Amino acid sequence: MNFEKSRATIYFRPRRLRSSGEMRDLISETHLNPSMLIQPLFVVEGEERVENVASMDGVCRYSIDKLLQKSIDLYQLGIKCIILFPFIDQSLKDQGGTQAYAKSSLIVRAVEAIKSAIPKMVVMADVALDPYTIHGHDGVLVDGMVDNDATIDILIKQALCLAKSGVDFVAPSDMMDGRIGAIRESLDLNGFSHVGILSYAAKYASSFYGPFRNAIGSDKNLSGASKKTYQMDYRNQKEALWESILDQQEGADILMIKPAGLYLDILYRVSQAVNIPVFAYQVSGEYAMIKNAAVMGLLEYRSAMMESIVSIIRSGARAVVTYGAEDVVKWLRE
Ligand code: PBG
Repeated sequence: MNFEKSRATIYFRPRRLRSSGEMRDLISETHLNPSMLIQPLFVVEGEERVENVASMDGVCRYSIDKLLQKSIDLYQLGIKCIILFPFIDQSLKDQGGTQAYAKSSLIVRAVEAIKSAIPKMVVMADVALDPYTIHGHDGVLVDGMVDNDATIDILIKQALCLAKSGVDFVAPSDMMDGRIGAIRESLDLNGFSHVGILSYAAKYASSFYGPFRNAIGSDKNLSGASKKTYQMDYRNQKEALWESILDQQEGADILMIKPAGLYLDILYRVSQAVNIPVFAYQVSGEYAMIKNAAVMGLLEYRSAMMESIVSIIRSGARAVVTYGAEDVVKWLRE
């Protein structure tokens, strides 16, 4: 065989499209802009408090005054959506998670402060009992098991409380069956048809929530117990489609897949199967893996974070909840 001639027969040279940064930008298929990034924020009682979360480098808990300042800064930077999580004092936790629907709870005051100062900020808050229960589960226990329907009765009260405080969206993250329909119905019956529901439709029982549980102080309460009777089994894909279709039918406005990076197949399939937006949550453990590897000098934080977020968007997410949101938006602005 004539080697020179056979080389001349390479007609297809995909590398032409990678020849420069300009060329690569010109043909890139995935675009990331600040509207696709949602910042989770942790709120704690007190004043002038900004405390580092031990389990998550670069992540803090803020008292309401500081949280407000942080939210204003984020809004000015270009982050238009935040999702809030409370750190609840142990003395306020109980079997039934009653603080979840207390009138002027920490989260209620936080939402009120932010919505009155920055009305245009899209504010979301979790609907689940884990910050409030003494056992750290997302629901209430009956005979030692998380009881679905008894939990829904409480989630409804929590969702109504959050709606009254002014949230734009409630975000049920508890994985009880039928809670989307139940919450939608009671929001509508109580004059909150304008409040949306972001459903954590496919949320897996994951080891990657560990640093978050430390951030909200539920790790000690849970003390190693598993959430596998309500959060999904990571061996399953079809089940995520079923959960997602149910939540769409029950009235969810947006679906969330969680975790994100290890679940791109789920994200892809769900985003193909439903007709509403699908978001993904790059959870605390995913963030910690990237951030801590960077702190150790093993990875470059910026490029690793960008690759991870763009991959999540490429797989079908319209937006990503990530502890790196502020960093990513700063890079996009440069
Ligand atoms: C609670 C909740 C969890 C997360 C968000 N909402 C933890 C859990 O289900 O145990 C995890 C977020 C993260 O790890 O960043 N319902």
